[in-house]
Amino acid sequence: MPVALVLLLALSSVILINGRSYGIGNVCDLGRRPNERPHSVKITDFGAVGDGETLNTIAFQNAVFYLKSFADKGGAQLYVPPGRWLTGSFNLTSHLTLFLEKDAVILASQDPSHWQVADALPSYGRGIDLPGKRYMSLINGDTLHDVVVTGDNGTIDGQGLVWWDRFNSHSLEYSRPHLVEFVSSGNVIVSNLTFLNAPAYTIHSVYCSNLYIHRVTANTSPESPYTIGIVPDSSENVCIQDSSINMGYDAISLKSGWDEYGISYARPTANVQIRNVYLGAASGSSISFGSEMSGGISDIEVSDVHIHNSLSGIAFRTTNGRGGYIKEIDISNIHMVNIGTAFLANGSFGTHPDSGFDANAFPLVSHIRLHDIVGENISTAGYFFGTEESPFTSIFLSNISLSIKNSDSPADSWQCSYVDGSSESVVPEPCPELKSFDSSYGRAEAL
Ligand SMILES: *[C@@H]1O[C@H](CO)[C@@H](O)[C@H](O)[C@H]1NC(C)=O
Ligand SMILES: *[C@@H]1O[C@H](CO)[C@@H](O)[C@H](O)[C@H]1NC(C)=O
Ligand SMILES: *[C@@H]1O[C@H](CO)[C@@H](O)[C@H](O)[C@H]1NC(C)=O
Ligand SMILES: *[C@@H]1O[C@H](CO)[C@@H](O)[C@H](O)[C@H]1NC(C)=O
Ligand SMILES: *[C@@H]1O[C@H](CO)[C@@H](O)[C@H](O)[C@H]1NC(C)=O
Ligand SMILES: *[C@@H]1O[C@H](CO)[C@@H](O)[C@H](O)[C@H]1NC(C)=O
Repeated sequence: MPVALVLLLALSSVILINGRSYGIGNVCDLGRRPNERPHSVKITDFGAVGDGETLNTIAFQNAVFYLKSFADKGGAQLYVPPGRWLTGSFNLTSHLTLFLEKDAVILASQDPSHWQVADALPSYGRGIDLPGKRYMSLINGDTLHDVVVTGDNGTIDGQGLVWWDRFNSHSLEYSRPHLVEFVSSGNVIVSNLTFLNAPAYTIHSVYCSNLYIHRVTANTSPESPYTIGIVPDSSENVCIQDSSINMGYDAISLKSGWDEYGISYARPTANVQIRNVYLGAASGSSISFGSEMSGGISDIEVSDVHIHNSLSGIAFRTTNGRGGYIKEIDISNIHMVNIGTAFLANGSFGTHPDSGFDANAFPLVSHIRLHDIVGENISTAGYFFGTEESPFTSIFLSNISLSIKNSDSPADSWQCSYVDGSSESVVPEPCPELKSFDSSYGRAEAL
């Protein structure tokens, strides 16, 4: 193990001993470097044509199939030169680097017959948009190890407009595909790329560990229905940093499965660090937790985030029947501009996958710290609505200053029910449920 890595691991345990009750390692500081690949091939070697019209699915599939044979020889790179490379969905393989040159654009086919179809994920029991199967993502990694998707700011364009229309007009055959998805994979890097127009999610990692996403730009139109940027889902050790994401719905959403399916699959999202990102979320939230959180979400650290033009800034969503938990969340150094609701915690949010959910599976939302936050042009400071059966507990707010627009009565700017917590130096003054200052929670952990 390199000396620097040993030092970092040692440092992160010192931080743990010094007062944190939870163990967010320095996932971003491990500085994962992409492995050099001794072999490289070009997509044109497999007959691909970059004219924006020729369908290149077979070329991508054949290239990846060929490169499988290099897995035990140090891996290989698939190089995509400048051009517009139309394709349907294809799979990646282990020890592969997919590299998109500057001005290389991978364009997703808009014809559903060019997309593979897959079974629902076990932690969801059905597709997100519709019961039953789902389209596989444009670029898939299933049970892989050591994969890099990168470039010199090349582009992956999902051409999602047709999918958004099919969603809106209820004419989808299966749930919409994502742009890039990794399932049950480890040691994955996604970097130095621009992602446009995802049909649904832009980057989805599910049942994964050690995922490093940096220097990505991801955009969809503000009108696109329920499009989400990055979704760490039942995944652990995830770093997202130095990125810019502007989505129709949520920019970054942490999830872990849906009701009875997520509860029985029991795979949490844990140990996620989000740093130095610029986020916008037209009709959802720039950072959201849930609402699918039945496998649990914990040990999440979010810092140095700029949030703009979003319906809500930071959202916690769940509902009775979900089970699971959202806990040990630390959010700091946030700058918000032009936001509807800065903090929105809703314990009665979202629907159930089917009638088989357990109405007595109450979610736990606890130990959430929001601190060192400034907001400009905010409409509403915060809603914290737990439920009688599962109140939100130990919510800690500190050093928060929000300038509320058109506020005749800033007192209305917070609304709370079934929540308890504490606060210090918060403007405007929060609701009484969050006012008491509990030093045992606040100060000890503010280290
Ligand atoms: C892609 O991987 C999936 C498993 O995730 C598999 O079912 C499918 O057959 C693969 N497709 C190709 C073209 O290899
Ligand atoms: C990458 O390209 C997009 C436009 O395609 C641009 O908005 C973004 O700033 C570029 N990122 C970098 C790091 O050059
Ligand atoms: C991404 O770009 C940065 C800056 O050019 C470079 O340091 C880094 O190695 C690149 N990442 C990958 C995976 O190529
Ligand atoms: C304030 O934010 C709202 C969105 O919440 C936006 O429509 C409006 O233009 C912003 N006002 C200014 C002065 O930027
Ligand atoms: C909470 O979610 C429910 C269901 O989606 C919705 O009706 C309600 O308005 C939400 N509450 C807030 C404060 O957004
Ligand atoms: C309060 O938060 C701001 C960032 O929003 C930070 O610059 C400032 O240092 C914090 N103040 C204290 C006393 O921690």
